Amino acid sequence: MVLLMDGGARGSGRLAGKVAIVTGAGSVGPGWGNGRAAAVRFAEEGARVFAVNRDEASLAETLDEVAQRGGTAVPHICDVTDAEAVAAMVRACTEELGTPDVLLNNVGGSRAGGAVEMTEQLWHEQLDVNLTSTFLTCKAVLPFMVQAGRGAIVNTSSTSGIRWTGAAQVAYSASKAGVIAFTRAVAVHHAPDGIRANTVVPGQLHTPMVEARLAGQRAGGDVEALLAQRQARIPLGFMGDGRDTAAAALFLASDEARFVTGTELVVDGGMSARCD
Ligand SMILES: NC(=O)c1ccc[n+]([C@@H]2O[C@H](COP(=O)([O-])OP(=O)(O)OC[C@H]3O[C@@H](n4cnc5c(N)ncnc54)[C@H](O)[C@@H]3O)[C@@H](O)[C@H]2O)c1
Repeated sequence: MVLLMDGGARGSGRLAGKVAIVTGAGSVGPGWGNGRAAAVRFAEEGARVFAVNRDEASLAETLDEVAQRGGTAVPHICDVTDAEAVAAMVRACTEELGTPDVLLNNVGGSRAGGAVEMTEQLWHEQLDVNLTSTFLTCKAVLPFMVQAGRGAIVNTSSTSGIRWTGAAQVAYSASKAGVIAFTRAVAVHHAPDGIRANTVVPGQLHTPMVEARLAGQRAGGDVEALLAQRQARIPLGFMGDGRDTAAAALFLASDEARFVTGTELVVDGGMSARCD
């Protein structure tokens, strides 16, 4: 199957003229993580991307992919759990590229643990990285969008925020469910300002995170076993990757979704629809 970013094909200007902040625009390893794929796809579709990440190293591959396609991405280092750094990041975006039209909150990640064994510290860390980060960026971006009278926010949840997905990760589930509720509230509250807010809900994907972290957490380091386990749950019979999430985020970020707000787009090959 050829996805747009496999090479050759160019976007068709679906985000032409827009400034887009993408958080977590790097990836935990080489390949198509969700944030990297979105940054590249948004740039390919004409957006000027403000590519935000905690560390510089993993942004390099993203910037390279954007440059290969003749797109624009400005890197910015920021820990999105730090309120002051987030406010400074948004100001920097307005100064370097202009008022953001699009905010894609992609930063997040899961840690294993049920309610009994999870430490209180890990619980708070998970809420910070998955939910508070989203609140902080919205808090900083919304005044600019309100003033402009337009904006599209896309937040990233997970099927673990709507279903049990095979392993206990209580803080991740709770924080990703929180992202959905937060986004719906923002959507309704700011609809009169011309701002839309939606959530993309990725399922079990084959992203670099599987090799880098999940296999160790869940399958004793056996990547193949974990991939087989994950794939077996998916009715479509294959695992998507970050480019599938990026395609959904692109739709929600673009003007094609002008009548879509306060909702969720699930990207999981049908996994959450099954009950057998
Ligand atoms: N990969 C999947 O299968 C999957 C499934 C469902 C949901 N998701 C969600 O998609 C999002 C991206 O997941 P991924 O696996 O593609 O990500 P990833 O771990 O590959 O990349 C995340 C990026 O965010 C950066 N980052 C982490 N913490 C940060 C912080 N505090 N401030 C700024 N940057 C930070 C990392 O440096 C990295 O570049 C997450 O919200 C995740 O929960 C992923």
